[in-house]
Amino acid sequence: MLYDLSDRMQTNDFADLEGTKVLARDLENDFQVAQSAGCVLCGLAFHAVEEESAIFPSAASVGNGLVPLLIEEHHDLSRREVEIAEDAHALLENPGATERVAAGVRLNQKVNELLVAYFTHMNREEVELVPLLREQFEDAQQGAWQASIVRSFPPDRLMALLAWMLPAMNVTELAEFLGALQRLAPPPVVTAVTNLAAAKVPGPRWAEARNRTGL
Ligand SMILES: [Fe+2]
Repeated sequence: MLYDLSDRMQTNDFADLEGTKVLARDLENDFQVAQSAGCVLCGLAFHAVEEESAIFPSAASVGNGLVPLLIEEHHDLSRREVEIAEDAHALLENPGATERVAAGVRLNQKVNELLVAYFTHMNREEVELVPLLREQFEDAQQGAWQASIVRSFPPDRLMALLAWMLPAMNVTELAEFLGALQRLAPPPVVTAVTNLAAAKVPGPRWAEARNRTGL
């Protein structure tokens, strides 16, 4: 999602008002439409909600100040996301293409700063939090956190997230995911996710994943 956000921002022609309206709408950080597949910023924002509800209450007991720092970073990321969505809408009010292009440059810079903060945060979670959780909690507990996050998703939001996740996996990850899905999920879910993967995953990778899983 972050790479896609960067690509969208860097290739948008801010002189083109109609195209820029589409970009601003897709960035919309409106939590009422958080289930929309097109909402980039709200998809990012939900990362914090899920972690703070499912994982952080337990992690805080062993984290030595790490969890409060991660929560502080979540708040900082949310502030940046809201500001970018607001700036994108304000930019549309600019009367001329020259002003919009100048505002677009500033918006790009803010998005670049968000990307730096977001990657730094996620790396901290991978480098500091994940090893701590693996050391301090049983696999079953970690599986329960994961299940509770997945169960909390409305189905359309889950499918919207999978539309991002499936094409972002390498072929081994994809085959493992689809294999687990075949073992654990009801047939209609397997069909729905398989159809989504067929639509979203690049052809050769999808063909290899199908080959490995027998789908
Ligand atoms: Fe996080």
